[in-house]
Amino acid sequence: MEKAPLKILVTGATGQIGYALVPMIARGLMLGPNQPIILHLLGPDRAFEALKGLKMELVDSAFPLLKGIIATSDVVEACKGVNIAIMVAGVPCKEGMQRKDVLPMNVSIFKSHGSALDQHAAPNCKVVVVANPANTNALILKEFAPSIPPKNITCLTRLDQNRALSQLSEHLKVPVTDVKNVIIWGNHSVMQYPDANYATVTTTDGEKPIQEVMLDEQWLQSRFVTIVQHRGDNVLKVRKKSSALSAASATCDHVRDWILGTPKGTWVSMGIYSDGSYGIQPGLMYSFPVTCQNEEWSIVQELNIDEFSREKMDASAEELMMEKSAAYSCLTR
Ligand code: LMR
Repeated sequence: MEKAPLKILVTGATGQIGYALVPMIARGLMLGPNQPIILHLLGPDRAFEALKGLKMELVDSAFPLLKGIIATSDVVEACKGVNIAIMVAGVPCKEGMQRKDVLPMNVSIFKSHGSALDQHAAPNCKVVVVANPANTNALILKEFAPSIPPKNITCLTRLDQNRALSQLSEHLKVPVTDVKNVIIWGNHSVMQYPDANYATVTTTDGEKPIQEVMLDEQWLQSRFVTIVQHRGDNVLKVRKKSSALSAASATCDHVRDWILGTPKGTWVSMGIYSDGSYGIQPGLMYSFPVTCQNEEWSIVQELNIDEFSREKMDASAEELMMEKSAAYSCLTR
């Protein structure tokens, strides 16, 4: 018997990420080939024609899993009954801008979208925030959506994880699928900490810690970290637009692993509401290594954290605390 369709909200559907993401979802890349879906696409009034065109193109693609499309600029209509909410709408940083420049606009968007989800989403709706500053936007959404369990509100750091895995695979000249368990700690910003200490590589002699195959250990602590931290900026410089297809693809990876489960022995990184694990202050949206089962994530516990890592993890938490207080001060203005 065919499964009942799940309703998936994509805000900012007409933007670059949205345009790359919706066909991926409709093709089953997010929830698998047996899960029918109904897309709820939210776009601003000014993009009404683009939203209409996007709907026409989705219809023209005859996606077998796509059972319905709601394309609207009405946030209440968009949020009604949604099971999964992908929050892409936000004001992005253009070249030369800083995150604090766009914070007030984003706080206001996430306040309004959080409230609408609070009142109209399906019980147990799962949320992933993609729009930047993703961690802090997720925190604002959580504040205005008290009916959604905090465990269901996440933000995207899978893009950083994918970037990190690809850098390791290129450096080692091995397929990306042979590398796993790199960790992204903290904020989705240049202060994130890509940590390869527990990464492994599949070799002809089985799975090995990365340090055994990576002769240049110095590279792991310096160049590797910098490349991953600045990859988004570098794409923006070259493309003149921020990453879109890689962000869309990472969003599918994030939700797929959350809902369908992580493969045995594999960790993924997700921005989640800190419970104090690894000494990270509760009340921050912080990226941790997790495994997922039965649609729930759990933090990978009891990893040894060396001094170098501790410093980087704390610096990222510090930045998040500052972002948090800047965001909350926008709420009281
Ligand atoms: C990225 O990591 O590429 C983006 O999140 C950067 C941005 O500000 O859109």
